[in-house]
Amino acid sequence: MTDKPVIYINGQFKPLSEANISVLDQGFLLGDAVFDVVSAWEGSIFKLDDHLDRFEDSISATRLTPKLDKYGWRKAIIETVKRNKLFDASIRFIATRGISNDVIADPRKNEPTEIIWASPYIFLANETGREKGISLMISHLRGFPPDTLDPRYKCVNRLHFQLAKMEALDAGYDDVIWLDQNGYVSEGPASNIFVVKNGELFTPSEGILKGITRQTFVDLASKGGFTCKQCQISSFDLYTADEVFTTSTAGGALPIREVGGNKIKGEVPGPITKKLDSMYWDLRKSGKYGTSIFD
Ligand SMILES: Cc1ncc(COP(=O)(O)O)c(C=O)c1O
Repeated sequence: MTDKPVIYINGQFKPLSEANISVLDQGFLLGDAVFDVVSAWEGSIFKLDDHLDRFEDSISATRLTPKLDKYGWRKAIIETVKRNKLFDASIRFIATRGISNDVIADPRKNEPTEIIWASPYIFLANETGREKGISLMISHLRGFPPDTLDPRYKCVNRLHFQLAKMEALDAGYDDVIWLDQNGYVSEGPASNIFVVKNGELFTPSEGILKGITRQTFVDLASKGGFTCKQCQISSFDLYTADEVFTTSTAGGALPIREVGGNKIKGEVPGPITKKLDSMYWDLRKSGKYGTSIFD
């Protein structure tokens, strides 16, 4: 890790202190921007192309027209991590609608702002949380239905995530999840959720960001010989589960010890959570699906 971090911004690598965007950037003024986060472990970026594909989907659904194409983002991401001398990194890449000098602006005309920020690897929870599990509150706020802002947009409009998170922290919980408009379990601010019951896994199918880690765990479950159903689940399923865990690029599986005041019955982390999480880290360390940074 370098003591002089640099940020990629619009084709240039700038020291962190000089990497500024305009106050007229529509990403800042209107939250008109999309992003993605990928991570590196031991010098290898995991599933970079899957993250880039999801980013491309967010970009095209938002009608943004960045200068960088998929190959350009890929190259610039690797270079940013390299210049920051990071082996274990969380890398956020962002495309905003860019600057407009008009107060009432036509969003179709701007040139996007492009940013890549690599920081040391982030886990969603501290060591105790990762070892013993964290508590989750079910927020009173609901996720966006697909006819407003489809949760598959990985966009920076996260005010309701922040409100839900603060609500949970104030109530003494570690983190938060919410339900969709129909009352089915959706996701949390940075993670998807899995339930284990009688040796089978269940994870919400709709109303969620399609997490790259979620898909990895679905695949690992199948490889490990477990049934994993992608379906609607309700808070009842969380309260009666043998195991609950969340998944994210920031740490793989995170065990849950309590949901909305209901303690998880079994051991935390449960045996299936532990098995799949160790398969996940083995997969990452194997280099399969990895892009080497320093070659
Ligand atoms: C709303 C939301 N759900 C789920 C996830 C998990 O996705 P991934 O596994 O790709 O990190 C994220 C990641 O930040 C997220 O923002």
